Amino acid sequence: MSRVSAPRGTFDILPEQAAARARVERIASELLEPAGYGRIETPTFESTDVFTRGVGEATDIVQKEMYSFDDGGGRSLTLRPEGTAPVCRAYVEHGMHKQPLPVRLYYLSSFFRAERPQAGRYRQFWQLGIEALGSDAPEVDAETIVLLATILERSGVSGVRLRLSSLGSPDTRAAYREELAAYLREHADRLAPAVRDRVELNPLRAFDSTDPGTQAVMAGAPMLLERLNAEDAAHFAAVRNLLDRAGVACEVDPTLVRGLDYYTRTVFEFTSDALGAQSGVGGGGRYDGLVEALGGPPTPGIGWAAGIERILMAAGETSAEQRRLDLYVGFEGNGADAFALLAAARAAGLSAQMELMARSPKGQQKQAERLGARFFARVEGDMVHLRDMNTGAEQTIEHEALIEGVRAAL
Ligand code: HAM
Repeated sequence: MSRVSAPRGTFDILPEQAAARARVERIASELLEPAGYGRIETPTFESTDVFTRGVGEATDIVQKEMYSFDDGGGRSLTLRPEGTAPVCRAYVEHGMHKQPLPVRLYYLSSFFRAERPQAGRYRQFWQLGIEALGSDAPEVDAETIVLLATILERSGVSGVRLRLSSLGSPDTRAAYREELAAYLREHADRLAPAVRDRVELNPLRAFDSTDPGTQAVMAGAPMLLERLNAEDAAHFAAVRNLLDRAGVACEVDPTLVRGLDYYTRTVFEFTSDALGAQSGVGGGGRYDGLVEALGGPPTPGIGWAAGIERILMAAGETSAEQRRLDLYVGFEGNGADAFALLAAARAAGLSAQMELMARSPKGQQKQAERLGARFFARVEGDMVHLRDMNTGAEQTIEHEALIEGVRAAL
């Protein structure tokens, strides 16, 4: 039979990798829970409109990267490409706006994008994300950004840079879009064809282009950051000041473009020098119109998501620490007594394993050593030979004395 492989752009999480992931999850929950963030998990798939309305019809994600399918009854469903629109859908559906605001939520889930796979870019990947809904105070912007900076630091991500910008309000942005589109039309002959085709649909994405001709045009383009109204400019200045007060360094980058259309005001991205082309470890921003676009009451919101694979790559996480094993139970012949001792050991809270491969007594002791067991118990008739694997000391005791003997020594 030919071998079947996992689909391109997907990966298995093997036991030896699970520990490093669990560590990031622990770092995140230990920081986020005391800060008032409660865990939320939404379904793996949603009605496709959650994303067309939420993320935006004109984005690459919606246009090219969604795994959509018919539910069998003519309704279109989509494997979630991101978490913010689903969380806002859930916020509306569960009437969370009636809770004391802001409502603070976090998630650690897998997401799906039909992207071209490369190092750090997958078709199924994991994101840790947070969303704070109900407040437009700049302190919330700063809070979320500081939390991500802390998680990255505690996870050991090196060479971190934070870029920050503001997209202002929808009106400012609409007027700016027109201004930018007019500028791009004026310089159409110097733009890459792909950019030229999208001038009307999404002129802002021209800032993302890697084409040298386009980049030269963009160097002279008008900047949205220079067009902010007084309120948005003051909000942005406040966020910058708060980050400064918290000791988080950032660079203002007026060309920062995010691949999702729901953003308003603050946007940001963390990159790491330890990563290659896909250097973004996490990013996010404010989305003050999203809840309303999904049928809820006007509700400001802000959040971010960070890729778990990218955090681990940037932290240089390779092997995991060995699991603790208190006791390895060996035997020859009938294993019923050994099994009963194993069950008793586990019931007593010890981490224990037993011999299952009919190894020789010597082989069993070797296996105990490989697993890093603290004690090796060899059952022989009514007695147990208990070996302290640290000291090599051995004693022969009765079955009933085994658990206490191990517990006392630990
Ligand atoms: P995003 O920038 O599309 O934002 O994704 C956030 C992070 O997810 C990226 O910085 C990257 O680390 C990781 N990521 C994205 N795509 C892939 C991929 N194909 N393979 C591996 N990792 C990937 C969002 O998704 C927004 N929902 C963030 C947000 C939350 N904005 C407000 N609240």
